Parts: sequence; structure tokens; C-alpha cells
Amino acid sequence: MEDTGLFVITVASEKGGVGKTTIATNLAVYLKALNEDLPVTIFSFDNHFSVDNMFAIGNHRGASVSRIFSDESLDALVQMGEYGVQFMVSERNLEPPDDNIAHLGRVLARGDLSGILVIDTRPILDYFTRSALLAADLVLVPVKDRPSLVNVAALQQAMADDGNDPERLWLVPSLIDGRTRLKEKDIGIHDFLVYSAGERDFQVVDTLVSKSPKVESLTTHFSSRIYPVLTHARGTRVHGQMRDLAAFVNSQYSKSRQPDRKPPVRLLAAVEDMPPGRASHLSGECPGCGLRVTGQDGFFYQDLRHHQTGFFHNSCLDQLLVNAEAQMLMPERGGVLFALPDTGLIGEEGDVSLSLYDEDGDEIVTENVTLETSARIMEMMRAATGRDDSEMFREMILVALDPEPPLFFLEDEGAHRFSVLRKKVLADLRLREQL
Ligand SMILES: Nc1ncnc2c1ncn2[C@@H]1O[C@H](COP(=O)(O)OP(=O)(O)OP(=O)(O)O)[C@@H](O)[C@H]1O
Ligand SMILES: [Mg+2]
Repeated sequence: MEDTGLFVITVASEKGGVGKTTIATNLAVYLKALNEDLPVTIFSFDNHFSVDNMFAIGNHRGASVSRIFSDESLDALVQMGEYGVQFMVSERNLEPPDDNIAHLGRVLARGDLSGILVIDTRPILDYFTRSALLAADLVLVPVKDRPSLVNVAALQQAMADDGNDPERLWLVPSLIDGRTRLKEKDIGIHDFLVYSAGERDFQVVDTLVSKSPKVESLTTHFSSRIYPVLTHARGTRVHGQMRDLAAFVNSQYSKSRQPDRKPPVRLLAAVEDMPPGRASHLSGECPGCGLRVTGQDGFFYQDLRHHQTGFFHNSCLDQLLVNAEAQMLMPERGGVLFALPDTGLIGEEGDVSLSLYDEDGDEIVTENVTLETSARIMEMMRAATGRDDSEMFREMILVALDPEPPLFFLEDEGAHRFSVLRKKVLADLRLREQL
């Protein structure tokens, strides 16, 4: 993904009452306090109004989270709240705008918001939680007991299935009562959680959030206003713990800014024992949405001019084809070619074409795509080729359609199959030009 500067932290757990909202809201306050110059934004997909009750200034109501999915600039939708934290108003009945969970990530990757975004979620794995997990650079999962710990596997699996890197998930021991000891093992609950998380290969942050009556009173007192730990519970242990958690987040944020950011671990593992050269132009980001792809599912593609390769998420390729008539003729095996016959400066005329090829590399159909779709395809081409419009000329992105996981195309048999397809397609294009 082009570095838009926005670092997305999703706080999630399928278990209710584990401290998600408390951690999300306070984290935003502490992050802002630690980085005065950094924009910090928060919103919640939950139908409670904790975010509003902490951050709203006066009674003014602004844009609600539902408008994130519109085409409006996020910068204009967020409002400045208390403690210097920007927020969006929560929504009582939030309806999914579509069934594309990559939609949120695409909006956030547009670049109109910068700094850090904290997303609070509901205790269910619905459209919104999955969108927020997929878009996240860092996922924090509060765990307070064994059931909440066991449940982490489901979140991790959802991330992997949807195409994010599960390595971004970290557990935060939460609501920890130092006096509680597990009878059978005589160990404290925090030690137990760290130990059990280790057994399951989960990463745990090196801090915790203690259970504190003072912290609890911040949300349960008489007025609807909710106060942060930073301003109203400085005397508690939780104050230092939240500061430590914010410092951890800061370090993850700084790491993500380093230019030599590594591709996802699982992608690397798959690529490591490949013949030299084959993976050297491999991108770890989907050109459809700019988010991480691991190649476990989705589609393999190559930029035929420069041999840059990578993967599309399933839904991201679908999005590019959604208005095309050719979509009805998609073969199970074969290829899709997005071609720009001339320069990238298409002006008013969209002249991007889309062709389908069957398993033998024979053309099934070619169509010129509509203006609306061509803008989307141009955006994808910029991402896939790394070139802007002025540098584009005769760009061709060939996507392999195949039921195999796309990583297959980095192996010998798959690479061979792709090269046969590529040769046929290029020959076909030359023929077309001569006609
Ligand atoms: N460190 C803490 N010490 C004491 N009480 C806490 C602490 N953190 C959260 N609580 C209390 O526990 C309850 C649940 O916390 P919170 O709302 O943050 O959890 P949640 O995971 O967001 O819940 P839900 O799943 O319902 O959204 C609240 O009443 C909150 O005040
Ligand atoms: Mg909550």
C-alpha cells in the first residue's frame, strides 16, 4: 500500500465486557498525549455511545460512522473532540453498505486521514468487525479469562481468511484482578493468560490493564459523560499501564513507518524456497485495495510489461469486473487481461479493455469497459505497476483464473502454466494490432 500515513488499530473480541471500549477510548487519549502533533482519530462500530460520551464537545452532533462508506472525504467527516482526539458520532442501527469487507480498508487507504485511527468494535464477528480486522495494521484483543483467550483463535482465523496478516494480532490482558489465583495451579490470572497464550502461539503485549474500581466508576457514575483514566484516574495503576500500552502501540506504529517493511511472514515463508528471481518482483499488497495479501486464496497476476507480480483478493477482482458483461463468461481456468492500449491519460474517454481467455489461452471475449469502471481499473493499474498516468503506456495486467490457491503460480508447474498463457495472450494482442 502506498504509505498514506494512516495507522489503523482495531480493538476486537467476540467476548463482551472484556474492556474493548475502555481500552480503545483511553488508548486514543494516551496516544494523543504522547504525540501532540500526530492526528489521532477514533470511532466505534458499536451501538453504544461511549466514544461520543467521552469525546463530544457540547451537544453538537456531526457525521456518523455510517458515512465512512460514502465517497465523502474522511477529513471532512471527522470532528475535533475533547483531549485533541478526532472522532465520528456512533450509530444506533448501523447497516452494512454492501457485502464487501474490503470497502473500509479501501476508504482508509485513500489517504484523506493521517496519523493513527482507533476502531472500537462490537463483540461479534459481523461485517463491521471483519472490515475493521481486515483494514488493521494492529489488532488488540483484550482477554480477561480463559474463554476470551480461547476465542482469539476465531479472530485470528478470520484475519487469515480475509487476507490480513494474523501476526498483527496482539492480546492485551484486561480487567486483571491481581488477587485472583487459579486454585488448581495456584498462579495469578495474568501469569496464566501469558502462559496459555504462549502455548497457543499468540503474541501478548508486555503490559496489562488491572481491574480498578476507580476506572470502573468512570463509566458508571451518574452523568452520561465518560472521563479518561488520564484526567480522572491518574492515581491508579491503570494510568501507568495505559501509558505502557500507548508506548507499545507507538513502537508498532514506528516500525510500520520504516521503508523496509517486510512482506507478511506467511507469504515470505511460501516464497523462501523458490527458484531465485521468481519472487523478486512479488508484491505483498493487493492492487485492488492496497491491503495485505498472502496468496493463500484470491488470484495471481502479472504486469506483463515489467513482470511485477502479486495477488488479488477474491472480492477485489470481483469489484473490477462487476459492471462488465464479460463477467458472465468467466471461465474457471484461464485469464483476465486488463489492457490500456495507449497512454494512461485517458481523459474523458475510457479506453481500457478487458479480455477473457480460456484455459488454452484462446480469447473468449473482449470489451471496452465503461468510464466508471475504467477509473477503478486505472487505479488498480497504478497500484500494480507503480507508475502514474504520465508514465503509463500499453499497460497489461494479466490475472490467472484458477481454482488453485494463487501461490501455486510461484511454483514450477504454475509458473509454467502462466507463461504458456502469457505467450498466447501476447501473440493474440499482436495479431489484434495488425488487424
Ligand atoms: N480496568 C478496568 N477496571 C475496572 N472496570 C473496568 C475496566 N475496564 C473496563 N471496566 C468495566 O467493565 C465493563 C466492560 O468494559 P468495556 O465496556 O470497556 O468492555 P467491552 O469489551 O467494550 O464491552 P462490550 O463487549 O459490551 O462492548 C464496563 O463497565 C467498564 O467500566
Ligand atoms: Mg464496547
